[in-house]
Amino acid sequence: MDNVQDKSLPRTYNGITYTLDEPRFKGLSKNAIKRLLKDQLWELQREARTKKQRAKSKQKSQEKRQLIEQGVLPPPPKRTKTSDMVLGNRKIVFDCSFSSYMTRKEIDSMQAQLVRCYSANRLAKEAMHMTISGYDEPLKEVFEKKTNSYNNWLNVDFDTEPYENRFDKEKLVYLSADSDNVVDELEEDKIYIIGGIVDKNRHKGLCQNKATNQGIATAQLPIGQYLQLASRKVLTVNQVYEIMLKWVEHKDWEKAFLDIIPQRKLKDSKLLNNQETSEVNKDETEDTVDQNQHSNQEDTNPTPDQDNLEKDETKLTPVENQQDMEKKDCPVDNIVV
Ligand SMILES: C[S@@+](CC[C@H](N)C(=O)[O-])C[C@H]1O[C@@H](n2cnc3c(N)ncnc32)[C@H](O)[C@@H]1O
Repeated sequence: MDNVQDKSLPRTYNGITYTLDEPRFKGLSKNAIKRLLKDQLWELQREARTKKQRAKSKQKSQEKRQLIEQGVLPPPPKRTKTSDMVLGNRKIVFDCSFSSYMTRKEIDSMQAQLVRCYSANRLAKEAMHMTISGYDEPLKEVFEKKTNSYNNWLNVDFDTEPYENRFDKEKLVYLSADSDNVVDELEEDKIYIIGGIVDKNRHKGLCQNKATNQGIATAQLPIGQYLQLASRKVLTVNQVYEIMLKWVEHKDWEKAFLDIIPQRKLKDSKLLNNQETSEVNKDETEDTVDQNQHSNQEDTNPTPDQDNLEKDETKLTPVENQQDMEKKDCPVDNIVV
């Protein structure tokens, strides 16, 4: 009897009044009830949270606008019409067959990196035709949730088939930091593959071994000829692709590396130009990186944790978009999709 009375007594949890005899708590343990109440509280606070976030975003965008007006920050790139995209002859394949090697969060990051690649492609002087091969359900789910305008992307194939069913093996070159071969130049008649994986290099040699087993040529970017990096030479998917786009534009690896490799990774590195070894000029590099609005991403897995990107990025203004991503240390000033 006591128990029943106890259960009908009103109690409070962070402002929520409840009684233990509510049907929703039937058969639940103390901890499970607490979890339910916590969820309820989270829902109740949603509106206030959104308001707070919006106010913070607004303030940040005002601050940024001021910095742009003062010339401290460069203006964001102009939105180009998709139809203005300049497509060259080169083709790139993103091997997205690695979902089973990634956590949910890493698949989110992978998707965000692909968005960056497409954005860079749109803004590039010479875009490449992109194939997202091995496009599977987990990745598709993220695209549907976060970037549903991907259906309108130009010059991109989302292909559920693996690349080996689509392309002539002889033409394929799988890019891998683990390869013994080094790319000299990006040949127009080759089709380069980038491994679509975010793994913090847990699976070392994964892509290299896959390509070797398939009898496909491999090569690493010539980073070692231009830079003595203080950290590993494993870059992210979007960094590799953006470097390739820069090379196609300037035919200059050093420029491509310095423009794209994040400052964090360049720190304490040495430039190996003309056989003289000089320390990378930090200020210069910072300028270069800043002017190009490249993100200071994590070394190997830089992409934003997309959990907080509630809205479809493609519908955000560049500024809103940036703020969402900056939260996670991945500025996206130049994301245009
Ligand atoms: C995060 S890395 C993946 C690392 C993975 N453990 C592997 O086995 O390659 C993503 C992809 O970027 C490309 N990549 C990264 N760094 C590279 C480099 N230094 N040279 C050539 N390709 C690179 C490769 O295609 C690689 O599969």
